[in-house]
Amino acid sequence: MAARRERAVRAAVERGLLGPDQPVVGLLDVAGIRSTAAGLRAAFEEVVAPGTPILHAFAVKAAALVPVLRLLADEGLGCEVASPGELALARAAGVTPDRIVLDSPAKTAAELREALDLGIAVNADNPQELDRLDALVGHRAAPPPPLGLRVNPQVGGGSIDALSTATATSKFGVALQDPGAREWVVRAFTERPWLTRLHAHVGSQGCPLELMAAGIRAAYELAEEINGAVGRQQIDALDIGGGLPVNFTSDEITPGYREYAQLLRATVPGLFDGRYKLVTEFGRSLLAKSGLVLARVEYAKSAGGRPIAVTHAGAQLATRTVFAPDAWPLRVLAYDAQGRPKAETGDGPVPQDIAGPCCFAGDLVARDRRLPELAAGDVVALLDTGAYYFSNHFAYNSLPRPGIYGFDATSADGDVRFATVREPQTVDEIVVESGAKHALGLSRLR
Ligand SMILES: Cc1ncc(COP(=O)(O)O)c(C=O)c1O
Repeated sequence: MAARRERAVRAAVERGLLGPDQPVVGLLDVAGIRSTAAGLRAAFEEVVAPGTPILHAFAVKAAALVPVLRLLADEGLGCEVASPGELALARAAGVTPDRIVLDSPAKTAAELREALDLGIAVNADNPQELDRLDALVGHRAAPPPPLGLRVNPQVGGGSIDALSTATATSKFGVALQDPGAREWVVRAFTERPWLTRLHAHVGSQGCPLELMAAGIRAAYELAEEINGAVGRQQIDALDIGGGLPVNFTSDEITPGYREYAQLLRATVPGLFDGRYKLVTEFGRSLLAKSGLVLARVEYAKSAGGRPIAVTHAGAQLATRTVFAPDAWPLRVLAYDAQGRPKAETGDGPVPQDIAGPCCFAGDLVARDRRLPELAAGDVVALLDTGAYYFSNHFAYNSLPRPGIYGFDATSADGDVRFATVREPQTVDEIVVESGAKHALGLSRLR
């Protein structure tokens, strides 16, 4: 991974993907993505009864980029979508409806109707959404696509509150341990023969594997109870969500899918005995370690004795890192202006701030970080940024979305090939999306 990365950084600088006019880019390691996807498939194939259908639906929110969805589809993955935009991206990538799952806490009636018309599986979030599905299913001649209900097993949260979805008061799903909720869920299934799935996503980064497994065990036990009450295998698929955390401190991939799949088998053996189809929804763990942001150091300055490298990667790209630095620390590597690892001077690494281009003081992606002292024209790399960085742009200061390029650095002759994933956004595009055609709209109002 590191060797491919070094070659790609050098080549990106040499070919001008990064330079004075394009001072920030995102790179994606295609070999890394392919091997991670293959690792996911293999890990679950090892634990399921032979022939068990499994859909690994990539959580599009983690990298909402059509070529990425297409690459993952080539590797046998589908898509989990949570908005009309994400659904449109999955379809633009050629992912077929039977390989798409729609989850979101706020689906409109029109979105639900579209999903049913297209044949896309839906996980309802709450009783009111189930009422909407009742109306839609009742009016259809054809059988609906797979429909399920999301439950919140309320097993607790992880170290990042904002990403813990199985807390007592989480906004997601039906809170299973609330008074009367379990009985309501069992009844909801017995009254609806077409409701055939249960869904639980316990949380994302920061959730221990044991907590995730406990939540999935709760969903499995509920499915068994419902099937027992109905007297047949009405629930025939369990959607276990995503959430495998990513190690942001080294190149090591830990925990891995295998560890998680083995833990699930030990915690919920019945889940894998072939009676249930499985759906997974991993996002971050599939892409994070295969992506990096490269940014030029525009200026190197000093304040109060602290060296500061002012770069072009800040809150617009690394929003969570800037606003919640303790929860989302990033590794930073230093390169020279030719894209070669920056050598340390005799005094060793220098504690310095790595700042972004946004106009607020807290726009720092790393504080007091020990690195070879950076100079204007150098390059910094923000590692492990393949998920939730490229597609979660924050339009502060009208900074453009950077270009994203995939690379193949596996060739024996050392050549690195690049493919465009997304063009850099232009200033003209920013002007258009900022209301340019309505320029006089407010002035004409009294
Ligand atoms: C319902 C659902 N599934 C899957 C995911 C993906 O989680 P992760 O990227 O942590 O694997 C999320 C993340 O928010 C989610 O809300």
